[in-house]
Amino acid sequence: MNLIRIVLFIGVLNIVVSAQYNQLEQNKCIIPRILQGSWFSWETGKPTQTVIDATKMSKRGICVTMSHHGDEYSFVFKERSGDCYHCVRTIIRTLNVFEKVEGPCVSIPQGTEPSVENVCKGIKDDRQLVTLFNENFVPINCRSSLEGVWHFTYQNRFRFTGVCNKPDARIQSCQTAGTQFLIQNQKFNVTYQQCEGMEGTFTGIVEYSCLGDWFVGKNHYFAVANTKESRKDEKYRCFLKNRDDDLYIGVSITAECNTLKTPENSPERLKLTPVKAEYVEPGCTLPQNFSGEWVNTANIDADVSISETHINETYYPDRARYRRTIYVCRERRDNRIMMARLTVDGCQKDYVCFDFQPRHHNIIRYRKGLAVIKDDFSTVCSWVQFKNAESWKYDLFLAKNPVPVRCPVAGKFNFTQRGEHPFRTRILGGVTLSPRPNIHCKQNISDLSVCDTDQKEMAVDENYCLSVDHLGRPVDIYSKSKIIFKFLY
Ligand SMILES: *[C@@H]1O[C@H](CO)[C@@H](O)[C@H](O)[C@H]1NC(C)=O
Ligand SMILES: *[C@@H]1O[C@H](CO)[C@@H](O)[C@H](O)[C@H]1NC(C)=O
Ligand SMILES: *[C@@H]1O[C@H](CO)[C@@H](O)[C@H](O)[C@H]1NC(C)=O
Ligand SMILES: *[C@@H]1O[C@H](CO)[C@@H](O)[C@H](O)[C@H]1NC(C)=O
Ligand SMILES: *[C@@H]1O[C@H](CO)[C@@H](O)[C@H](O)[C@H]1NC(C)=O
Repeated sequence: MNLIRIVLFIGVLNIVVSAQYNQLEQNKCIIPRILQGSWFSWETGKPTQTVIDATKMSKRGICVTMSHHGDEYSFVFKERSGDCYHCVRTIIRTLNVFEKVEGPCVSIPQGTEPSVENVCKGIKDDRQLVTLFNENFVPINCRSSLEGVWHFTYQNRFRFTGVCNKPDARIQSCQTAGTQFLIQNQKFNVTYQQCEGMEGTFTGIVEYSCLGDWFVGKNHYFAVANTKESRKDEKYRCFLKNRDDDLYIGVSITAECNTLKTPENSPERLKLTPVKAEYVEPGCTLPQNFSGEWVNTANIDADVSISETHINETYYPDRARYRRTIYVCRERRDNRIMMARLTVDGCQKDYVCFDFQPRHHNIIRYRKGLAVIKDDFSTVCSWVQFKNAESWKYDLFLAKNPVPVRCPVAGKFNFTQRGEHPFRTRILGGVTLSPRPNIHCKQNISDLSVCDTDQKEMAVDENYCLSVDHLGRPVDIYSKSKIIFKFLY
């Protein structure tokens, strides 16, 4: 049956592929969707708008051929009038930003087909990249661009000399309080303060939407759009950090990234000093047998380290980075514990209520309320802060080094499954075990067994062949496909 499905699937795939192939035959160049749209750029000192659809680029013409290498595309465009061809090479940086380098319109000898090789050969890789910003951008989480709170001093070599240093100048890029899993932080604020006697400094908050970030060597670029600015040429900006020294950041003063080579040599330069999270005095203690190392299954398997007064949670948004949140015990009544939540990057402190169940072997079950700014037990730990009150769902801390425990039930069970995603003991995406040859299965059942002498393991086999050997003993030669669970709770 599976085989039939696979054959059918291949059939459908064939049709799709040949349809696309036909389209390609007709028009050898289809511009990827991510490059299509209306784009703003600052080119040779002028605001420029570029419109790209599946086959054309404004002021460049119709695409006649293309090639690509990863996220880098080379296109050959033919101008409608005139007999010359443009080569445009693009590098996709984020959903909202791409960069391009291009050559002049070149003629090719008569009788030669235009190709990426003969039209693009004049383009040097070291030419300045032009950055294009999507005019209909989709904001992206700022977390990977910039996260934390800093005081900053700034210089702008085009507007004033000297360094403007005011105590209240701040950059603030924080996850919105109260949303732990649906993290929303697609904007950040830069609060400028005016310096007397420095023309061009001003007092005001600039709010930016994040358009995504990318690396070029050690340079970490991110693009932004000023949310309060309607003039296109003032709206888009590029920031630059250096991976080795993230206390300086460079900011462009035009919609360009190529003016930023190093943070120190950028038109606007900010020097950052992190604003440290405050110290919070513990006001209560956690249950003694919570102390130790845990894994939080509700937060991408974060590492959790619990002491008498602190819960430190570290998670890894990607391979290279980690984020730490520290919870400090403030007040405890019955199962509910109000904890102060601190992030090390200086984003504000708030309060969260944990409703803990007593530790049971390798598991701590808890519910966590919404974060609140107010330091008041009856507000923070009010039952209305627990969103899932009706379904009463608990999240889990699992012991990092669990010790299996004895299961309260033992025996062999036959089970049936209902629902959309039945449990399967086959290897996902793997080869289906060959049909069972020469063995007559009296019956195939779904088997769940707790039969080891210690009663610490449960074997589950969704398709267990019930058969007998020549002595009448039950056998299942395919029991390799069963899954073993250890009891932790
Ligand atoms: C930026 O500041 C404005 C004005 O104070 C405020 O309304 C807005 O919520 C802030 N935005 C962020 C992302 O902090
Ligand atoms: C948690 O972090 C705080 C602040 O960094 C530190 O003082 C404390 O020792 C840590 N506790 C654990 C259990 O790691
Ligand atoms: C942990 O301590 C609580 C009481 O403080 C107790 O009810 C619970 O059974 C203990 N759990 C374990 C696994 O020792
Ligand atoms: C296992 O359960 C199925 C479905 O309820 C039933 O048809 C079958 O007879 C059971 N097999 C045994 C060996 O009990
Ligand atoms: C049990 O499943 C195998 C394939 O896994 C099948 O060949 C066999 O006919 C089934 N037997 C019964 C009794 O359903």
